[in-house]
Amino acid sequence: MPRRTDFLVIGSGIAGLRATADLALAGDVLILTKADPTESNTGYAQGGIAAALGPGDSPRLHAADTVAAGDGLCVAAAVNVLVEDGVRYTRELIAAGARFDREPSGELSFGREGAHGLRRVLHAADATGREIGRALWNQVAEHARVRVERNARVSRLLVRHGKCVGAAYEDDCGTHLVEASAVLIATGGAGQVFRETTNPAVATGDGVTIAWQCGAAVADLEFVQFHPTALSVPGAPRFLLSEAMRGEGAHLLNAAGERFMTRYEPAGELASRDLVSRAIVREQQRTGQPVCLSMQQLDPTWVRARFPTIAAACLAAGFDLATDRIPVGPAAHYVMGGVETDLWGRTSVPGLLAAGEVACTGVHGANRLASNSLLEGLVFGARAAQAMLLPSASGRLAETVVEATASAAAADSGDGGLTEAAVRELMWTAVGLTRERASLEAAVAQLDAWYATVAPGLEAGGLSAADWRVASVVTVGRLMARAALRREETRGGHARSDFPARDDVNFQVHIGDRNPAVRQTPDTHR
Ligand code: SIN
Repeated sequence: MPRRTDFLVIGSGIAGLRATADLALAGDVLILTKADPTESNTGYAQGGIAAALGPGDSPRLHAADTVAAGDGLCVAAAVNVLVEDGVRYTRELIAAGARFDREPSGELSFGREGAHGLRRVLHAADATGREIGRALWNQVAEHARVRVERNARVSRLLVRHGKCVGAAYEDDCGTHLVEASAVLIATGGAGQVFRETTNPAVATGDGVTIAWQCGAAVADLEFVQFHPTALSVPGAPRFLLSEAMRGEGAHLLNAAGERFMTRYEPAGELASRDLVSRAIVREQQRTGQPVCLSMQQLDPTWVRARFPTIAAACLAAGFDLATDRIPVGPAAHYVMGGVETDLWGRTSVPGLLAAGEVACTGVHGANRLASNSLLEGLVFGARAAQAMLLPSASGRLAETVVEATASAAAADSGDGGLTEAAVRELMWTAVGLTRERASLEAAVAQLDAWYATVAPGLEAGGLSAADWRVASVVTVGRLMARAALRREETRGGHARSDFPARDDVNFQVHIGDRNPAVRQTPDTHR
């Protein structure tokens, strides 16, 4: 017999926890989290949370910066919700106990990051996500109606008569079924699809995979943000060197010690992430040498106090953050696309909601503005909870933004060297920072073949943890590659060397996909 809960929340980052805080006031909530609850992209978020709370700021200004970074593809209504509700929910978070840095006067301290017109980023040193996670856990842990299952990996959503009614999950004791009135996917990102990533090991895109398998529409998956400044030392993890460092005056230097950014971008180190990432690669190619981040011109004591987590990670790799030049390079950081939702987190499958990085409201367009991701999780996590509290959590999306799916996977080969490392390598080389048709076509063909080998296991369930990882990175990587092939232009996080310009005439659209193997009910068609 399946167990039963009122609300099922899959994932324990900011979106899942914020939703839980409201859901627990109305019913029993079960949170399934596949590792330790703190092991999420939220826990690793350094720079901060952007909110129009500071002097001279307004939601209108925040919206303008968000839309400019999004490169012509932001959904305006989603941006308005983010910046306006963001003020209220951030205040509420502070009232709930989140401790952000303050000036000596006691006022909140606002940091600056790339593509923000002014200082807007609340931070807790360089471990802002950890502080927000702590505050939300404290809030949620107080509720007697919240239950958390750790090391519980959701492998399948249960769909009955076209409605999502629960999930199957695996833990050390086997496979379990749980049913719920509404199910929220809040599983975070998919950086592990790429060889180089700032994301933790858990970020294998599981939410997109399970949603795809049950027939939910996905969108914008070609838009992956490559953070320009991940630590780039052979053998060391690609630890994030926060954009807040550049906001506080860190310089990008070439091997000759020259600041090179303005050669490529007038805004220099504070251009948007897509532009800085591409400039770094161009400078590496021009000089044949690595690029470094340097805070040498700043007060060393202040640097170590402002960025203690990053300083410790650099020390472990043999560098003093305050006095050394630190080698950096781009790494996959954030996925703008995901499971398509409306402004209340409702997906195309009734009963199934999604919020946070796994979701695609269109709020980030083609490129997310720095520090808008924690805000997104907070705002849309709260809104998804509101939708789940309605008598029927089902709903149809208001706006059709998606083209119909292309062909099904080619079922023509054995596993052809399929390993997680092979997928990540292929994605990095063919679907990474710069893309072009021939290598995308080859990647799609390979990923189609690999998907054909993993799809039966995804369908049947019961995969081992290792096999699940492979199946998920193949599924998500394939969807990213297919969308990247279709988008014949350069925009935001998606750069095509064969189509180097933005093409508003043909591509000011959101590219979507839907699993043709899942029979769609009238309710789930749009
Ligand atoms: C950073 O601190 O650079 C990352 C924050 C973000 O992804 O917005």
